[in-house]
Amino acid sequence: MLSVAGVSKRFGSRLVLNDVSLEVGPGEIVGVLGISGSGKSTLANCILGLNRPDGGTISWHGRSLAERSDRQAARREIQPVFQDPRASLNPRWTVRRSLCEPLDNWFPGIRGGEREGRLRALLDAVALTPDHLDRNPHELSTGQCQRVCLARALAPQPALLVLDEPLSALDVSVQATLLDMLRNLQERDGLAYLFISHDIAVVAELCQKVLVLEHGCVVDQGPVAAVLSTPTHPYTKSLLRDSLAMPGSAD
Ligand SMILES: Nc1ncnc2c1ncn2[C@@H]1O[C@H](COP(=O)(O)OP(=O)(O)OP(=O)(O)O)[C@@H](O)[C@H]1O
Ligand SMILES: [Mg+2]
Repeated sequence: MLSVAGVSKRFGSRLVLNDVSLEVGPGEIVGVLGISGSGKSTLANCILGLNRPDGGTISWHGRSLAERSDRQAARREIQPVFQDPRASLNPRWTVRRSLCEPLDNWFPGIRGGEREGRLRALLDAVALTPDHLDRNPHELSTGQCQRVCLARALAPQPALLVLDEPLSALDVSVQATLLDMLRNLQERDGLAYLFISHDIAVVAELCQKVLVLEHGCVVDQGPVAAVLSTPTHPYTKSLLRDSLAMPGSAD
């Protein structure tokens, strides 16, 4: 579905992405690992159309996203989830408004009971209940806010979610709940994920394929089991060593 081919991106004189290529197929979960500053968010933003690549092509079902006329389908089918759920939500909007906005935007013909049904289905998908609908973000926990962001991302009925460190703002127990939710949604809807993280343990648990970024270059890429059990690149080895040195991440 998604094909990133030889993408580069500069900020000033700095080459932040250098010849990055990857593919995400239907229902596939692809992890992106790398330390802070390695270019993970820049890659996500290029795919989401928030950054414009300086070189290479990004295509969706074979159509380049650089072509305005070809971008429309991708705009609905590729949806983001970001790291900071509170910053992603409008603080003055209730949960109902945050969820109805994408529904009405993408499916303006759907009204009344059917619209209400879709709203309930979105709440169900992220284990929120109708009594959350009238709350504002400050009346929700950070984990609940991230579930609202996830529901918002699901509203357009996407095929691919680009998740940029979606668990980093959450407690470990809340992270586990969200991971379960992502896994269930993937099984139920056949969604694909590009899952950006600096947490090797989470990537090992969730993803089928992984790529490792260092200074904007892909230094390791392949099936998770292969890349993380026998890393070929010194940088991947050092990431693994650092993650094993961290308490709680070593099993
Ligand atoms: N809009 C921008 N203008 C200038 N430089 C930028 C911009 N966005 C990112 N950069 C630089 O590009 C490099 C990669 O940043 P990026 O945010 O992609 O890294 P990251 O891997 O997502 O890091 P983190 O794990 O901290 O989120 C960094 O050196 C950053 O300072
Ligand atoms: Mg980032």
